[in-house]
Amino acid sequence: MPESQSTTCVPRHVAIIMDGNGRWARKRALPRHAGHRSGVKSVRETVEIAAQRGVSYLTLFAFSSENWRRPADEVRKLMGLFIDALRREVDDLHRNNVRLQFIGAREQLDTRLLDKITAAEERTADNDGLHLIVAVAYGGRWDIVEAARRIGERAAAGEIDPADIGEDMLAAELQLADVPDPDLLIRTGGEHRISNFLLWNLAYAELWFCDVLWPDFRQREFDQALDFYAQRQRRYGHTGDQREAVKC
Ligand code: FPP
Repeated sequence: MPESQSTTCVPRHVAIIMDGNGRWARKRALPRHAGHRSGVKSVRETVEIAAQRGVSYLTLFAFSSENWRRPADEVRKLMGLFIDALRREVDDLHRNNVRLQFIGAREQLDTRLLDKITAAEERTADNDGLHLIVAVAYGGRWDIVEAARRIGERAAAGEIDPADIGEDMLAAELQLADVPDPDLLIRTGGEHRISNFLLWNLAYAELWFCDVLWPDFRQREFDQALDFYAQRQRRYGHTGDQREAVKC
């Protein structure tokens, strides 16, 4: 293990935008779906490395609210891929003490996928190893709007005073209410944007971008991202001098 990873500065929560499956496939004259299928191998390896490195929470952006706009055939095959991945991987994840959770607009999902998701979440609910969160039909704006709507309903019913609405109350209504904010965001595929991922939760995340396409993402790239994180000084509005003693 390189020296910098032997420090204690391992991010508690890593979030990943897995981009570049389509381009990976096109470079090989393969259909886009071959890229998504190959991306599942990167998911498997990333989950293993995250657990080995001591990451507590790993959140993967698998399908955004906007991805419904893709050709129907690609969407159908992606949903099939999620079902297959759950069928194949849940036993192993459970054996490795991984807890699985899904976030996103569940009511938009096909019942076959929803049933697999519910079963996987129930089966792994008591595991206390890596907490693996998969975002499907998820959008950061949708998440905030849903939270605001629930708070508005409680205010309209007279259960809360609007003057009491604050950050903690809103955060408690988000999909990741019980999960600490991501410390590190990784995005593969060369684009430098957040793409409506965890808009609220990423407020203080360190951002690491790489050109590698998701199906090629392996231990080497993950460790580069962890090394980058280990060298950040997180200031949360303080001055550098105030934070000097508290790296990461
Ligand atoms: C973005 O690449 C990738 C997706 C929209 C799908 C991600 C899905 C997987 C990696 C499949 C497995 C996931 C799990 C959790 C089992 P893109 O298609 O936008 O690539 P492009 O930008 O090159 O077109």
